[in-house]
Amino acid sequence: MQRIIESIAEMDALGAEIAAGLRGGDVVALTGDLGAGKTHLCKAIVSGLGGWDSVTSPTFTLVHEYASGRLPVSHFDFYRAERLEEIVALGWDEYLDRGDVILVEWADKFPGLFPAETRWLKLEVDGPARRIVSMEESS
Ligand SMILES: Nc1ncnc2c1ncn2[C@@H]1O[C@H](COP(=O)(O)OP(=O)(O)OP(=O)(O)O)[C@@H](O)[C@H]1O
Ligand SMILES: [Mg+2]
Repeated sequence: MQRIIESIAEMDALGAEIAAGLRGGDVVALTGDLGAGKTHLCKAIVSGLGGWDSVTSPTFTLVHEYASGRLPVSHFDFYRAERLEEIVALGWDEYLDRGDVILVEWADKFPGLFPAETRWLKLEVDGPARRIVSMEESS
């Protein structure tokens, strides 16, 4: 499924829509170039879950956790991770087991980490405020 997003407001609406369908334990894997809008969409998902946390890219810490919404969220960014072992050492398996919603930027760096039912979202820049978002359930 593909969505053409024409503005930040439409990206916020998509985040709210995705959030409405999330259940504990769901994993959302985001891919797309620098500036594609992955962090922005994570923000929109967290606020769609009713969270008021300030969402920033966990570039250096690799993971941020937000607990104020309807479901707890763990937000990863693999951009700076060099080896899969770094993610495993953070407790990746425990994060998957504990039932948080998991959001991951640059997820395609380590595709082998993801459960089969992961929701993959690919963001492409198609103009200053225009984005193409492709969504699939991986098999
Ligand atoms: N429709 C849109 N949706 C999302 N972001 C948009 C849109 N239009 C413009 N932008 C801008 O694009 C930028 C997206 O930045 P963001 O940090 O979310 O990207 P990113 O994919 O997380 O990049 P990085 O790989 O560096 O983490 C922001 O500056 C945002 O304001
Ligand atoms: Mg980002």
